[in-house]
Amino acid sequence: MQDRGFNHPLGSEITPIGVYLDRRRWMQGAAAGAATVALPAAAVAQGARPGKLAALPSARSNVAGAVVMEKATSYNDVTTYNNYYEFGTDKSDPARAAGSLKTRPWAVAVEGEVRKPGVFDIESLLKLSPMEERIYRLRCVEGWSMVIPWVGWSLADLIKRVEPTGNAKFVQFVTLADRAQMPGLSSPVLNWPYTEALRLDEAMHPLTLLAFGLYGEVLPNQNGAPVRLVVPWKYGFKSGKSIVKIRFVEKQPTTSWEQAASEEYGFYSNVNPQVDHPRWSQATERRIGEDGLFAKKRRTLMFNGYGAQVAPLYAGMDLKRFF
Ligand code: MTE
Repeated sequence: MQDRGFNHPLGSEITPIGVYLDRRRWMQGAAAGAATVALPAAAVAQGARPGKLAALPSARSNVAGAVVMEKATSYNDVTTYNNYYEFGTDKSDPARAAGSLKTRPWAVAVEGEVRKPGVFDIESLLKLSPMEERIYRLRCVEGWSMVIPWVGWSLADLIKRVEPTGNAKFVQFVTLADRAQMPGLSSPVLNWPYTEALRLDEAMHPLTLLAFGLYGEVLPNQNGAPVRLVVPWKYGFKSGKSIVKIRFVEKQPTTSWEQAASEEYGFYSNVNPQVDHPRWSQATERRIGEDGLFAKKRRTLMFNGYGAQVAPLYAGMDLKRFF
């Protein structure tokens, strides 16, 4: 292994997903006391509210591509299989540990190259634009995917409100880093705070969602409460959780994952089955919930299936070079 000067877990150190899922299946089967494998008990039918958190009413989105007609991943899987390194690097850590996250009071500072900078408290953000339900695929760089009914509105609605100047070329997202609430910050796995960024036109694209909820309720802490980004055509790590600052800048910012391993995590990180991650292929993916020995992997789609909407953003660009 080359020295990359940080402690990012290598693929070999992470429980291979197949092993994890098979272990989980086995435990479910064992818990049910049956020879056959039990279905997840807390699976919630698509459209049904789980009744665990405050309701967040919304209308079905009419933005093209915002609703995929695929079976939604169960609420149980969406909320117990997470990446949120501030609460640990194991997929089960966030659901277990994110209870310590305080989501009120909460504010998002909007600053930099805008004519109308300001601090938006979460209550005003919730009312800034009509809430929509968008059923997006989320494809993680690690090779798994989910289908999640998010609730939120297009980030463009906020961007238009703050009026970017002609110098605003990129938008940076800074997320909360508070050692008192986040046990994972004691590990140097990433440079905290977790930051991400988009080009301004990507941030303005109607599919780019500022999400406040999922499954008709406010976001569970482990999924990035009280406000996160969802960029459905990019690998999941571009979708920063628990955002506290949105900064408009002229130069392309370096993201936390680029700082950790720029040869593995590019700035664009568009879902692209033709560009392998240095340690694994991106040609296929495993849909969480379709686990088990006989579940077939799915072919990963260019731009995660959102090419009709977003490919024009990258016209003329070599996406192998700008990965
Ligand atoms: N945001 C923060 N602040 N910290 C993180 O570790 N992980 C990213 C992204 N946003 C992460 C984050 C990764 S790798 C993925 S795949 C998605 O969140 C997972 O979102 P989910 O848990 O809601 O599925």
